[in-house]
Amino acid sequence: MSDKNDKIPPAEDDPKVTQPGDGGIPNELPHHRKLLDKHAILERNATLLMVFAFLVVTIGGIVEIAPLFWLENTIEEVEGVRPYSPLELAGREVYVREGCYVCHSQMIRPMRDEVERYGHYSLAAESMYDHPFQWGSKRTGPDLARVGGRYSDEWHVDHLEDPQSVVPESIMPKYDYLRRATIEPEHVGDLLRTHRAVGVPYTDEMIASARTDFTVQADPMGDYDGLLERYPGAQVRNFDGRDELTEMDALIAYLQVLGTMVDFSTFEAADAR
Ligand code: HEC
Repeated sequence: MSDKNDKIPPAEDDPKVTQPGDGGIPNELPHHRKLLDKHAILERNATLLMVFAFLVVTIGGIVEIAPLFWLENTIEEVEGVRPYSPLELAGREVYVREGCYVCHSQMIRPMRDEVERYGHYSLAAESMYDHPFQWGSKRTGPDLARVGGRYSDEWHVDHLEDPQSVVPESIMPKYDYLRRATIEPEHVGDLLRTHRAVGVPYTDEMIASARTDFTVQADPMGDYDGLLERYPGAQVRNFDGRDELTEMDALIAYLQVLGTMVDFSTFEAADAR
């Protein structure tokens, strides 16, 4: 029996060999009409192919998107991340208005060169209160996600007034007018309210005390206990060294808080995911 099976079958029994009169292409596999072979129907009918492609993409899309409707939040909260204080938020407005994002990103990617240059890669939670986010897509200048605390306030004043005075080869434009532009806390409550409308958890108390918090953050002689209670870790000082409260104060207050909210000496990646 085994003897017979070991033998090469005669040509007429070999399914791979087409016999004259079969009508097929010589040496082509014979046509078994299995489920997969029905694919040929789709491949030969463009309209049908489009209908089925549409179905497949729809199912794939639903599988990806539908769970998001049932997830409360896609960002894991991380300890230390708090909404911006009124002065920081006003500084952020100046940052957006001046188009700093055109040259600066605020997102450190988890790649070795970036982490070595800028510090721990950015966490989603760190920009959860940013509306609109400032991740950016262009780095004519360095990433600013962790610029807070890297330079002194005086350095920032000099640099913003005349970047070439501290970095001679810099191509950053001058923003000297910011130090002359005084700002009033008049609309800062509305600013907070606007951010609350898009999801930042500003409380009624924070909005009610927005004006005081705004001025007191740049006044180390003031009573800033309430500010620190509402915005833990807020830095209180005269940022631009001038008596008046200026856009420069606000912008530097914002720059100095960037990337400083999460304590990375105790942060464990597993906590945040
Ligand atoms: C035309 C592009 C451009 C624009 C717009 C721009 N910058 Fe820059 N910025 C640079 C470049 C280039 C550097 C690197 C050289 C230097 O330090 O000046 C830089 C450096 C910086 C640094 C130092 C960062 C570091 O880690 O050394 C800060 C802070 C900064 N910019 C803030 C700002 C702010 C705030 C604005 C908006 C008011 C702004 N930049 C607008 C190009 C730009």
